[in-house]
Amino acid sequence: MTQDELKQAAAEAALDFVIHGSIVGVGTGSTANFFIDGLGRMKDRIRGAVASSEASAQRLAAHGITLFDLNDVTELPVYVDGADEIDASLAMIKGGGGALTREKIVAAVATRFVCICDATKQVATLGRFPLPVEIIPMARAQVARALTALGGRPVLREGFITDNGNLILDVHGLQLADPIAFESELNQIVGVVTNGLFARRGADTLLLAAPGGVRRIDA
Ligand code: A5P
Repeated sequence: MTQDELKQAAAEAALDFVIHGSIVGVGTGSTANFFIDGLGRMKDRIRGAVASSEASAQRLAAHGITLFDLNDVTELPVYVDGADEIDASLAMIKGGGGALTREKIVAAVATRFVCICDATKQVATLGRFPLPVEIIPMARAQVARALTALGGRPVLREGFITDNGNLILDVHGLQLADPIAFESELNQIVGVVTNGLFARRGADTLLLAAPGGVRRIDA
């Protein structure tokens, strides 16, 4: 199986978690795109979706799925999204696609976070994938210095502006033995909007696709 076929298998399995008649939280990225396409097939059985990025909103709209503003939604039973890395506790690094802030917001509202991944994303310790950090543009240099002091090597994502009008620093070389503590520590740096560690609120369920099938792992 190709990696895309594995991503699609995980995404298809996530359709079983969609509650009929509900509004669905939808992530961003190539795996989430497969989920959106599947959701398109069952659009008459859901009320609509909340998107975590402009890109996902456009794809959902192209399928004729009604889009809701998160502020108008009181109940979001499920949020489905991919990850760049995920560990055994279902803590993740996300934001490779740059949508980490809206992803974290939508995930925070959802009752259940279902992560969909191919098996290459599963790691023993988070940190090989450079950690994305969304920052306020005028704080770029000061945040970079703070991240360097924490042992990382921040690299500006050139030519990239987030949906919120901010910049991304991709931080290389971090050892993330305690992702919950590090997520909180990064949040204390003035100028950081969001960091790509999803550890305090990790996934509740992982659907991990390997050539042998899709395995469900609950936190
Ligand atoms: C988007 O900002 C990311 O958090 C993605 O969810 C994550 O990078 C996984 O993307 P792929 O499904 O494209 O690997």
